[in-house]
Amino acid sequence: MLIVDQDQQIFRQLFSMTHLGYNASNMNIVSSITTEIAFDTVRPIEWIDGGLKLLDQRYLPGRTDHLILNSIPEVAQAITDMVVRGAPAIGITAAYAVVLGAQLCQQQHPEHWQQPLENEIRMLAEARPTAINLHWAIEQMRTVLRDIGVMDTDAVASLLNVAKQIHAGDIAANRTIGAFGAGYLGKGSVVLTHCNAGALATGGYGTAIGVIRSAYALGKVKQVFADETRPWLQGARLTAWELEQEGIPVQVLVDGAASFLMQQRQVDWVIVGSDRIAANGDVANKIGTYALAVAAKHHGVRFMVAAPTSTIAMETATGEDIPIEKRDAGEILNASGVTSSFISAWNPVFDVTPAALVDVIVTEKGVIEQPDPEKVARLMAD
Ligand code: MRU
Repeated sequence: MLIVDQDQQIFRQLFSMTHLGYNASNMNIVSSITTEIAFDTVRPIEWIDGGLKLLDQRYLPGRTDHLILNSIPEVAQAITDMVVRGAPAIGITAAYAVVLGAQLCQQQHPEHWQQPLENEIRMLAEARPTAINLHWAIEQMRTVLRDIGVMDTDAVASLLNVAKQIHAGDIAANRTIGAFGAGYLGKGSVVLTHCNAGALATGGYGTAIGVIRSAYALGKVKQVFADETRPWLQGARLTAWELEQEGIPVQVLVDGAASFLMQQRQVDWVIVGSDRIAANGDVANKIGTYALAVAAKHHGVRFMVAAPTSTIAMETATGEDIPIEKRDAGEILNASGVTSSFISAWNPVFDVTPAALVDVIVTEKGVIEQPDPEKVARLMAD
């Protein structure tokens, strides 16, 4: 008990300093220069001996297979195929992919390696359209590339250093997000989450699951409900698996049961991650999130979005400007055993929750309650 009390005190101090409107500059973890990667139990992405090791998330929790990738086209395909998924994890993976590309292009075109590398990077940027973290991470790597001379023998080492900083910075950001988000929860809260915004979807620790983990450690979470999350079942396969490893009580429900659960007054908070937050506070996340937000508003359940600032896209004015990925109809029809060529399927894999339905956006720089364009701009300017 004593330890929990102490933690809560430390947390309250941090929280009051970084709540939007207070000075947040000393908490800008993402810009930290550490490359020390503080892994927890799950390691979705690892740089090993010149190659990229990815935990193949398509087969979890039944199989823990890994892929070792050595080129940008291989990594781009792995992102498209959902070997690695979750917006921050996709960004980190892309950063390491640029290192792989630089290694190969330097060997193949020592005199002019940057142009073929840029061609591959453009292809990498198209691997999935909605998660802005992919573009954010690529831009960080392009900035390094612009400062590197063609004959620079340290080019790969410089790029690798930045990729590791992005990776380590994401984990550190998630721990801060976890602490800030946990401050909103009362003791014994019941949380509903959607998709997987855990260690698997990030560098480690997780965003929405990071908040749940931090709050659980403070004795504030009694129970988690994890939406199954059709059609890839990220909630049933990945979130439930991660929470089980933490010993956090979890029940899986079909996506359609979530509003009934709220009507039964069994949920205090809906907590989700995000793939892109527009400048006005609109939030793109896994398909079904919007329905949760509407139901939460109707039933007086609070709605939290937990995401690093790398997910906030100031160049995307509103949710209407966010490209929504549509995936193959087979992802829905094959699972249902539908074989008729007459029947197709509409398969958008993200939706947009208007800012007006969001109670709080929690980032590593601070929090935004009742988000609007001015508050988002102030947080990002800090
Ligand atoms: O299609 P996915 O599995 O990549 O979708 C992932 C999500 O929608 C997550 O909720 C989001 O990326 C936040 S992850 C911290």
